[in-house]
Amino acid sequence: MPKQVIVQPSIEAVEIINTPIPEAGDNDVIIKVVVAGSNPKDWKYPLWKGWPHNSGDDIAGIVHAVGKDVYEFKPGDRVAALHRAGKENGGYAEYSVAPHWTTFHLPQHVTFEEAATVPTAALTAAIALYVDMKLPLPQVEVALAGENKMPILIYGVTSAVGAFAAKLARLSGLYPIIGIAGRASDFAQTLADYVVDYREGDDAIVKRVEEILKQKGLGNKVTHVFDAISEGGTLETTLRFVDDNGGIISTVLPPSLFAKDPEGFKYPPGMAAINSALPRVHSTHKDFGFLWSRFLGRLLADGRLKPHPFEIVPGGLHGVLKGLQKLKEGKASATKYVYNIEDTPDSPPTHETSTSKRPEDKQKHQFQAFPFPP
Ligand SMILES: NC(=O)c1ccc[n+]([C@@H]2O[C@H](COP(=O)([O-])OP(=O)(O)OC[C@H]3O[C@@H](n4cnc5c(N)ncnc54)[C@H](OP(=O)(O)O)[C@@H]3O)[C@@H](O)[C@H]2O)c1
Repeated sequence: MPKQVIVQPSIEAVEIINTPIPEAGDNDVIIKVVVAGSNPKDWKYPLWKGWPHNSGDDIAGIVHAVGKDVYEFKPGDRVAALHRAGKENGGYAEYSVAPHWTTFHLPQHVTFEEAATVPTAALTAAIALYVDMKLPLPQVEVALAGENKMPILIYGVTSAVGAFAAKLARLSGLYPIIGIAGRASDFAQTLADYVVDYREGDDAIVKRVEEILKQKGLGNKVTHVFDAISEGGTLETTLRFVDDNGGIISTVLPPSLFAKDPEGFKYPPGMAAINSALPRVHSTHKDFGFLWSRFLGRLLADGRLKPHPFEIVPGGLHGVLKGLQKLKEGKASATKYVYNIEDTPDSPPTHETSTSKRPEDKQKHQFQAFPFPP
């Protein structure tokens, strides 16, 4: 029977269990997973929600079966897909499931490892830039001319989400792209027009951003900021260089949970701020998920979009724990951790049945409501 991984809330153990191949709901694509990719959410959901489950969402593999209303995919197709966060049969498995509208065909030259870096991070970047910040869409024929100078600042430009945001911003013709990064400065230089080092401290960041804007004739405040970090003080630093009259900020974590002073943190009335939550592609923004999944495939096909750098964690499904621990410890630097499922040792499951159950009476974690705080 196929195996899947149940991530324990402690993030100190996983269970490897045998489970049947999932059955396809009407709109589902059942995928034989070749490579699964990790996201920070994959350790956060089990820990913060106190819920052991298969938390992987990024899948690359071969279509095994499709539901009755799926017309674009057939068994044997090479695909990448975004599993629906918090649902059964996640990506850390030999067989996983995704709705057809967040599944897309893979161009022949894109490897499964590369593909597994894309769905969560690229769709989050897209929803932030184009739904929440309403920035101009990439256009095949015409991008904004460089002289139009619509700047964007991306905090955490070497993170998976931030890097895809920079790549999309480039395709949209935004200029200049100011990226805040640290260890991965070489990678950052490939993404942004100007790179500012967060390790020099907040005052140095603000000063450097103001210098860049002035040098480009853009005043001293930036209008569009994508904060792809949104914790550890970035929300507060951002406030110092966003235009408080018409500026717009998209965050990846809600300030009401992740600001230094969650209750006291307020944006000035002239600023618009939104927490760009990806799960909307499976609820209120299904059409966006559909359009952008298809578009990502097209951008990958002609090379306009490059996947994120990755590291293959050895051991297949047994490597998931290591990957999640490294993410939790902040070791990922311009890297997505991915797992070749066929590297899973041919050993018996670690557990006969799963302890995967949503908690009932447990004391709630302070971030239990993530990503949708009240
Ligand atoms: N809202 C949503 O729906 C949604 C969806 C996806 C992800 N997220 C969240 O978005 C965040 C990023 O996810 P990810 O997958 O992109 O993470 P990731 O790739 O694992 O992030 C690692 C990167 O963060 C950078 N970094 C760390 N601290 C920084 C700081 N203070 N300033 C600038 N850069 C910093 C590091 O840069 P250097 O290596 O250059 O030092 C590193 O490259 C996570 O909190 C995740 O949970 C939210």
